[in-house]
Parts: sequence; C-alpha cells; structure tokens
Amino acid sequence: MTLISLGIEGTAHSFGAGIVSEDGVILSNVWDMLTPSEGGIHPREASRHHSELGPQIIREAIKTSGVSPNEIDIVSFSRGPGLGPCLRTTATIARTIAIKLNVPLVGVNHCVAHIEIGCLDSGFRDPVTVYVSGGNTQTIAFSGGRFRTFGETLDIALGNMLDTFGRSIGMRFPAGPKIEEAASEVSDYYELPYSVKGMDLSYSGMLTAARRLHSEGVSLSSICYSIQETAFSMLAEVSERALAHTKKNEVLLTGGVAKNNRLTAILEGMAKRHDASFHRVTPTLAGDQGAMIAWTGLLQHRAGDSVTINESSVLPKWRTDEQDIIWRDI
Ligand code: ATP
Ligand code: FE2
Repeated sequence: MTLISLGIEGTAHSFGAGIVSEDGVILSNVWDMLTPSEGGIHPREASRHHSELGPQIIREAIKTSGVSPNEIDIVSFSRGPGLGPCLRTTATIARTIAIKLNVPLVGVNHCVAHIEIGCLDSGFRDPVTVYVSGGNTQTIAFSGGRFRTFGETLDIALGNMLDTFGRSIGMRFPAGPKIEEAASEVSDYYELPYSVKGMDLSYSGMLTAARRLHSEGVSLSSICYSIQETAFSMLAEVSERALAHTKKNEVLLTGGVAKNNRLTAILEGMAKRHDASFHRVTPTLAGDQGAMIAWTGLLQHRAGDSVTINESSVLPKWRTDEQDIIWRDI
C-alpha cells in the first residue's frame, strides 16, 4: 500500500497544506500568503491568518487531492524554524488532525523540507544546495549524516534584504518579484558593497548603500539591477567554492528567492563551468507550501521518525544542521 502524507506548513507569512504519496506524486498543494497592505509581517497577525484560513486550506487540499481523509496515513507539520505564534498555531492544527484521524504525527524541519522537495523535483541525490528565502541564505551539502551549512549570511537573509529595501521605498511585501521586474528594465550598474567573508555573506551594508542611492535620486530600476547583480554574484562565489570543495556534481537552487530568473541564470552558468548539473526548484515548489512538508514527513516516517503529541512542541530556532537525517544512506 502506498502511504499518503498530509503536510501542513505555517512557519511565517504563508499557510499551506499539501498531499503527497509515498511514490513522490504531489496530489495537491494549496496555500495562501499574508500580504499586509503596509509594513512587514507581524507574527501575531500571521498566526491569526493561519488560524482563520488554515482549516479551509486543509479541506481544499484534501478535496483536490482526490483522497478521502481516512486514506491519510501520516500528518506532517513544520515544527521549526520560524515565528513562535505561527508555529504554535500550525502545530495545534496538525495535532488536532492527527488525533482525529488517529495517525502518526511527524515534525519536519522547514529548511530540510526546502532541500528535500528540491531533490524530489530534480531527481538529484546529493547536491550542493543554495537555499535562499526571506529568513535564510545558506549553502548546504550533505555530509556525515546531516545537511551541513558551508556558508550563510552573517546578518540578514537575501530575501529579507530585498523585502526590507522594497518596503523602505514603498513596495508591498513580498518585494523580491517587484525588484526582479524593475531590474530587468536596465543594465546600468552602481557599485554596492560586495561582502563575502570566507564562505559567509553579509547583506546589511548593501541595504544601507541601496537606500542611500535611492535618496540621492538614482533610478529605482538601476538600484534594483545593481542589488541583484551584486547580491547574486556573492552567492555564486560561495556556492562555487562549496562545489569545488565538496566535489559534488549537482547544484540545487531552492527557497522563495529561487523564483528569481536572474539568480537562476547566474548559478546555472556557474554550475555549467564546473560540469555540474543544475536545477532550480519548480517555482510553485520554491516558496513555503505544504507539499514539501508532506514529502519530508514521509521520508522521516519511513525511517521510523515520528513524535508523540506530548513531545511535539515547536522549535523556533531549529537549524538545518541540527537534525540527524536518518533517511539518507549516502
Ligand atoms: P524561510 O522560512 O525558508 O526563510 P520564508 O518565510 O522567507 O522562508 P519563502 O516563501 O521560502 O518564505 O520565501 C519568501 C521570499 O522569497 C521573500 O523574501 C520574497 O521576496 C522572495 N521572493 C519571491 N519571489 C522572488 C523573486 N522573483 N525574486 C527574488 N525574491 C523573491
Ligand atoms: Fe521557507
């Protein structure tokens, strides 16, 4: 019998529910993102969004998947990292459903799920992963039973830098796609801080400098172009080093910022120069959604990993490299 997993995601701005079967077929993937009319994401506001819309999103995911509730074998949920109120709301919903259906509950690491859905999507077995989102900027490779972080941001994440810059000039959240669009209009480059420290990166200086350019009257599209070229080149440099160091032959781009076509082109070129295969996760699987949680939950469950309701407290600071990846045999 093929196992069916319901995955529930709700670490930050988005609530999602997805149904995935053991053979890796995504039967449904429904989500909704909170887009405040002004300002950033407030944790309590986001958790209210999740509790108000969550049940309906889950119902829709079950309905469109074509499976009936009693065919669901496990309930997987995003246990961390993320915003405390959002995680707690999501966990409460997941526990309730697991109890009601009388099936195991699996706590999934959100960052690991971004990697595993990318591996399912690409067929890659052992990539260097470039994971870029609103909260994370990491180059990761599997080694010694864990997803090791080879490099990461020392201050703010790439997506957060884009969103914060966008917000300061009046763009609504999420600003990443709007910056990409504005950047595509020009190709005049203004110098911004290129800050690579060993394998790590820093984006806060770039944010300050970009705001300064804006106050000096430089055109928005030129600033967006310069931000993208600088920020993405920094990422290409560290991921190239990770690839050379680990001698792996696959590069996977995942996380919300993976939707960016310019970043994709830059990393694809880098991988090609090293004769490595490259894959950008399918855009509908790049941002936060339930299918990635459902799939990773399945992998964990098959390896014998589930949690009791009593032990299922959320882990807001759970790092990518803090989990033993017991389902991988490489
Ligand atoms: P995590 O918890 O993994 O850090 P997250 O909460 O940031 O995830 P994601 O959906 O993975 O959520 O990523 C959202 C980010 O992706 C936002 O910062 C958004 O601006 C960015 N983004 C989305 N589309 C694009 C794009 N086309 N170009 C650049 N950035 C983008
Ligand atoms: Fe995410």
